[in-house]
Amino acid sequence: MIQPSTAEFIRRMPKTELHLHLEGSISPRTLLELSQKNRVDLGVNDLAGVERMFRYQDFLGFLDVYRACARCLIYGEDFERVAYELAIHLADQHVRYAEVMLSPAQHMLRNMDFNEILGGVAAGFDRALKERGIICRPAFDFGRQFSLEEAHRAVELAQEGMRYGVVAFSIGGDEANYPPEPFVEVFAVARAVGLHVMAHAGEVAGASSVRGAVEMLGVDRIGHGFRVLEDSELTEFLARRGDITFDVCPTSNIRTGVVATLTAHPLRQMLDAGLPITLNSDDPSLFGTTLTAEYLLAVEHFGFSIDEICRVALQGVRGAFIPAAERERLLSDFSAEQARLRSELDL
Ligand code: ADE
Ligand code: ZN
Repeated sequence: MIQPSTAEFIRRMPKTELHLHLEGSISPRTLLELSQKNRVDLGVNDLAGVERMFRYQDFLGFLDVYRACARCLIYGEDFERVAYELAIHLADQHVRYAEVMLSPAQHMLRNMDFNEILGGVAAGFDRALKERGIICRPAFDFGRQFSLEEAHRAVELAQEGMRYGVVAFSIGGDEANYPPEPFVEVFAVARAVGLHVMAHAGEVAGASSVRGAVEMLGVDRIGHGFRVLEDSELTEFLARRGDITFDVCPTSNIRTGVVATLTAHPLRQMLDAGLPITLNSDDPSLFGTTLTAEYLLAVEHFGFSIDEICRVALQGVRGAFIPAAERERLLSDFSAEQARLRSELDL
């Protein structure tokens, strides 16, 4: 059981969210409306059907559903709508800053215009910024199962997208069958043009995938990454370095089946190993979770103390792809608000 004051603290404390996907954040109602408006056959036509669709046999089954969601986004106005709705949903959880991944290959497949896509996303985020003060910035997450040629094109699109606020380039998708090493050139270009870089790694594949992302791709952040613990030397090395943040998404890992049960999830071990970790919802709609729910889980199932919760929330600022002055401002705002809330709630 969680203390009511602890739950209240978690609900109200300022947060960042560094690992979530736009296409996995479309609410079931919006998804149904978009599929009907754009005549995309999802194979379901009511909320109960969407709920059934959001249960997965395994990780690759999850990726199929993710792709189906992406196909419902066709026009700039669709991207604007889902970006706005997501940003408001995050602002409701006291998220002050978020980085939101888009999957470029899903939209390149359909020859879509990225000015229309990113123009829509930026308009949705701008509206939320004006109404609620939340800052959201896009990032590109390229599905590793697509070709290297498409990956190079995706980096070019990300570079062009920097004028819409794109901050980072990442790889995701089928990690088990597509290791990081072939992307070395792609990431060198991404870094050279001024994009931050990250990778989903150590989610479906083992520690060597994390090592490859760090050593070959030069990533600043790892998505998930929990299987790094299978290599104690690498774990100690990354804990000592302390400059690569692990964006952990516990509910995602249970729902995709890459971890069998919450009890088996190594979130606590990652923290205790001294790895810099953040908490994230990944695909909140597809996994029926929220960022707040992930923090509550950290207390309820993983025994995180208030000090540890505060440390994880601050790591969400330290690991963010923002200029130094913005980071200092957010760190000082977050620390002051944490202290104020702890005093008000007697924690
Ligand atoms: N794309 C969306 N969610 C993902 C995940 N959890 N892993 C890899 N690729 C993804
Ligand atoms: Zn992800």
